[in-house]
Amino acid sequence: MDFADKNGDVAEIMLDYVENNTTFQTDRIMRVPSRSYTDRDQWEAEIELIFKRVPLMLAFSAEMPNPGDYKAMDAIGMPVLMSRDKTGKVRAFLNVCSHRAAPVANEGHGNCPRFTCKYHGWTFGQDGKLIGVAESAKFGEIDKTERGLRELPCEERAGLIFVCLTPNAPMDLDKYFRDYLDDLESLGLADWCYLGSREISGANWKIAYDGYLEGYHFASLHPETIAPRTPSNTMHYEGFGPSFRIGFPQRRIKEALAPIPREEWGRQENNGYDFVRILFPNIAIFVAPEITQVAQLFPGPTPDKNRTVLNYLRKDGPRDDEDKEQLETMMNFFRDVTYGEDYVIGLEIQKGLESGAHDEIVFGRNERGNQYFHEWLNWYLADDSTLPEPEM
Ligand code: FES
Repeated sequence: MDFADKNGDVAEIMLDYVENNTTFQTDRIMRVPSRSYTDRDQWEAEIELIFKRVPLMLAFSAEMPNPGDYKAMDAIGMPVLMSRDKTGKVRAFLNVCSHRAAPVANEGHGNCPRFTCKYHGWTFGQDGKLIGVAESAKFGEIDKTERGLRELPCEERAGLIFVCLTPNAPMDLDKYFRDYLDDLESLGLADWCYLGSREISGANWKIAYDGYLEGYHFASLHPETIAPRTPSNTMHYEGFGPSFRIGFPQRRIKEALAPIPREEWGRQENNGYDFVRILFPNIAIFVAPEITQVAQLFPGPTPDKNRTVLNYLRKDGPRDDEDKEQLETMMNFFRDVTYGEDYVIGLEIQKGLESGAHDEIVFGRNERGNQYFHEWLNWYLADDSTLPEPEM
């Protein structure tokens, strides 16, 4: 699909929203039980039926662009190792030695021809195969072919590395994302520069994620940071399976698009309008020319906590030391704003939900992104693929 045409139509809709002070609306208000954010059984089901089943975007191609590059990380308490072999193919494994389960790589990024377990020194190839057993004559006979690293389904698309946390599970990105991958491809993220990340934590992962899914709160919560650029409560939503895209017109959309021929409106992202790309269940990508922030949310160690990694990318790498310093300052600023303005209120919301004040919360007709996310969440939790899929 040519997203430029589609984006042009979306730009026209967003211009209309701003001129007429309207927004995307669905036909109903949605109620969600408060315990959805506090209940341990639900939290465990979300991990088992969603986080361990769907493709999770765990890394960017730009984090590990060269043969031998790897990234080791924690994903919902599971140690994951992604490695690019000498042919350029990326694989994912559980970062667990087949001798006595120590990690074979320390968390973070690196480059190496093979992985050496720090406990007793067994070595594994970039393809996960067991290469060497330390002092094997003394250790005794084992079949090396049976003792490689446990591989996870992994695929690299659109500059993003997707992993399923269940070995041998089927993973079909085209089916999961529909034609959203074309839009993601068009960003060209594979050729961007990965600048670094910051980590924050907060309340239940869905409380935090809800904050990324609507712009209803911009005027109240972000009067100085977001509202000057983006009007509150003015969003356009498009669904692609469980994932979706939010269009946010800027206040200056009319002036920005006026001198541009209509057929070029679809190529004006960040000039008059912005997109936030939501990849179910836990990613929010906000593309901006100065710096792009990609929030990656994970359920934390208990139902009332999340761990969020804020990743930063830009088309070009740091130009010089001064630019590098400015980028570091910008990453800190974005982290501080995200934490101070969105995550702090999330902690208060968690307390409110646990207080028993209300049995349910409500999402308005304007908060369609939140409704859609919770509808898909419930669809996965029902664990019955014959149920009709939610539609935007
Ligand atoms: Fe890895 Fe022993 S646990 S070599």
